[in-house]
Amino acid sequence: MRTPFVVGNWKLHKTIAESLALVTELKNQLAAVAAGKRVEVGVAPPFTALWPVARRLDDASVMVCGQDCFWEERGAWTGEIAPSMLVDVGCRWVIIGHSERRQHFGETDAGVGKKVKAALAAGLGAIACVGETDAERDAGSTTAVVDRHLEGALAHVTAADAARFVVAYEPVWAIGTGRTATPAQAQEVHAHIRKRLGEKLGAEAAAAIRIQYGGSVKANNAVALMGQADIDGALVGGASLEAADFIAIVRAARGNS
Ligand code: 13P
Repeated sequence: MRTPFVVGNWKLHKTIAESLALVTELKNQLAAVAAGKRVEVGVAPPFTALWPVARRLDDASVMVCGQDCFWEERGAWTGEIAPSMLVDVGCRWVIIGHSERRQHFGETDAGVGKKVKAALAAGLGAIACVGETDAERDAGSTTAVVDRHLEGALAHVTAADAARFVVAYEPVWAIGTGRTATPAQAQEVHAHIRKRLGEKLGAEAAAAIRIQYGGSVKANNAVALMGQADIDGALVGGASLEAADFIAIVRAARGNS
């Protein structure tokens, strides 16, 4: 019942020209792959490329996503971007609470909750990221960390938001390392996340919310990951920077490729 959702998080990569070259290729090649709505696809370019990318994708099914947003709509917040500004440039979704923002930019669980609330209020879909570090996994605290991240992200979410709220499970030790969680390891955490979603939002919402896996997803491991019962797509970093790699992952998520 859940349509898989694959998003390319470009992070700090690509000029406007490079962004347009990539989305033009995606648009042309994905028209057939994404037809029939058996998979949803998004790209999250850097802020500077959002407007031209959104124009280029105007008539395409690929959705444009922000990589972050702020929780206030306006005011003296130098350097920040409001959720409605992302809507204004053509975004449909925004990634919130990525581990790189938690690690390097002081993102807190409470801040993630406020950002999710503001994004949903502005009409955006929110992709909330959760996941443990290597040390946390070794210490046996994976579940505790994921629970804490989830609690923050879900602070202001209701069952009515289920279609516009996505959880991305991204174990920090798997991001950019080439060390992917095994399908079984990922499934175990995804099932736990769905259980928690059920406790907070009810069984119906929990069954509808997509849970993406992220962390070194590549063409060669995507089929096995996407085959797991509670993995509903991917949040892809490095492999989203080349059209062929990203399209192979979209195909894997769609199934019957
Ligand atoms: P990689 O796919 O490069 O490991 O990055 C994952 C990620 O952080 C996506 O948000």
